[in-house]
Amino acid sequence: MSEANNLTWHEGRVSRQQRATLLGHDAACLWFTGLSGSGKSTLSRAVEEELVIRGVHSYALDGDNVRMGLNGDLGFSAADRTENIRRVGELARLFVDSGAVVLTAFISPYRADRARVRELIGDGFVEVFVNPGLAVCESRDPKGLYRSARAGEIPEFTGVSAPYEEPEAADLVIDTGAHSLDESVALVVAWLVQRGVIPA
Ligand code: ADX
Repeated sequence: MSEANNLTWHEGRVSRQQRATLLGHDAACLWFTGLSGSGKSTLSRAVEEELVIRGVHSYALDGDNVRMGLNGDLGFSAADRTENIRRVGELARLFVDSGAVVLTAFISPYRADRARVRELIGDGFVEVFVNPGLAVCESRDPKGLYRSARAGEIPEFTGVSAPYEEPEAADLVIDTGAHSLDESVALVVAWLVQRGVIPA
């Protein structure tokens, strides 16, 4: 397709190492996946804040926000969710290329879609499964969506009438039902330090 469109990939002259030296840390994509109400957005925002306080150039991309702008043309069919994740994956890759630690908070219910992003980003992709269990997500129901979905008012609602394919080998699993927000943030940050992504 690229050949057909006469496109050529232009490699930049700034290396990943040069950017890491400039910023004082490595680049990464923390890919938070989990059901609606699992705490992906809350946790990713809190990790983003902690990283910025530590001097790490980080930025959170959130499902609801991105769907209000860039992906405003997409709904919740399987095909639209796949396209949503494809675009966000491409966006996250650019952030990683810029040297940032990017955090994404999307349900991303399909294993194949997440695997594609892992392959696209390669080194630096970290899958974080935010998993307090469906019952906890449903009892939180911060937006009242589970109630509406159970009443049949939202078709294809993840966990109720649409699938969520759990990660089989997530890099990190966080049970936000068992851990407080501060504890959950500490687990993610400790992982990043231990892997040498950011300094202690
Ligand atoms: S994804 O499946 O394509 O990854 P994404 O994370 O972008 O989903 O958006 C999920 C958010 O959209 C939910 O937090 C919820 O607020 C809203 N939403 C609206 N309809 C649905 C639905 N049918 N299934 C899941 N989430 C929905």
